Amino acid sequence: MSEPVIKCENVYKIFGANAQKMLQDSNGNVDAKTFQENGCIVGVNNASFEVSKGEMLVVMGLSGSGKSTLLRCISRLTDATGGKIFIEGQDLLQLNNKDLIDLRRNKMGMVFQSFALLPHKTVVENIAFPLQIKGVKTEDSINKAMDMVKLVGLEGRENYFPRELSGGQQQRVGIARSLAVEPDIWFLDEPFSALDPLIRKEMQDEFLRLQDKLQKTIMFITHDFDEALKLADRIAIMKDGIIEQLDTPANIVLNPATEYVRKFTEEVPREKVLLIKDVMDTSKDNLGDLKVSKNEIIENVAEKILTQEKIVAVVDNNNEIIGSINPTKIINTVFGGRKNNN
Ligand SMILES: Nc1ncnc2c1ncn2[C@@H]1O[C@H](COP(=O)(O)OP(=O)(O)OP(=O)(O)O)[C@@H](O)[C@H]1O
Ligand SMILES: [Mg+2]
Repeated sequence: MSEPVIKCENVYKIFGANAQKMLQDSNGNVDAKTFQENGCIVGVNNASFEVSKGEMLVVMGLSGSGKSTLLRCISRLTDATGGKIFIEGQDLLQLNNKDLIDLRRNKMGMVFQSFALLPHKTVVENIAFPLQIKGVKTEDSINKAMDMVKLVGLEGRENYFPRELSGGQQQRVGIARSLAVEPDIWFLDEPFSALDPLIRKEMQDEFLRLQDKLQKTIMFITHDFDEALKLADRIAIMKDGIIEQLDTPANIVLNPATEYVRKFTEEVPREKVLLIKDVMDTSKDNLGDLKVSKNEIIENVAEKILTQEKIVAVVDNNNEIIGSINPTKIINTVFGGRKNNN
């Protein structure tokens, strides 16, 4: 397997004057409460994971659980208190200022929770700005920026200043600005949370379409489990700075590692997450004519299966029958094991 694009080894971020010393004394066993009693706040607690090329890792967790802090450590907007972070094998904490600026300018893109727009530049100038810093000619950068303006639906507002835009519109400028550069590694901190539902859905679809084409390595923070399910290859769930579980959406829903994770997934419509292969039987007896792929999301084929009287065959990528699914199994999956199904 190729080298991970992002690799974190026992990363800690602790705020407070004594953070470094307390972390050293703790030998890596950081108890948030004890630290707090001693004037330190634990932002990230012993995070280890990898993100591979083209993968989208979605980070979830309640407010204050450390999501933004983790992202800020990896983009080195803040220095981790302990642990190691590698970007394409390069030790991030060893980079000098010039290399770090280079990395940020050419490899990394960021969309922040707060919009961080330049107040004295217009919409189109804000979007073109990082391109110009990279040395793209003014005219080309403005043309590219205008494409992005259209993409995020701000046509006609390109000459407005940030203060003349709503929060959601400012966020769209932030998204457009970071898209314009086409970075390999993309950090997005709740990029769609200020958008209204319709535009949010459009942006998610557009985002998936782009990702399909561009195959960037992405860390994406959201509060919204539906959004996570729609976008994620894998999901990391954080609590009090700790990654409680990092797994595929299906495994998180089927096998929550902790009570906190289970609570998170309780209301998730299972048919949106689980694939046919997650719930199929290995028996191949008494099959009807209908075949479904093992890789279909249940939601997409449920109706078709439910209208069958016979058992449905499940096939692999070569159209070979590998198992079966009984229509009642679909009903159990969709309506069983979930509270409040009304
Ligand atoms: N600069 C700072 N100084 C001190 N404490 C901080 C600082 N930044 C973050 N924290 C603390 O670290 C913890 C994690 O904060 P963080 O912003 O990462 O949470 P989050 O998961 O992104 O929350 P939200 O969903 O509200 O954005 C919180 O307890 C927060 O108070
Ligand atoms: Mg945050």
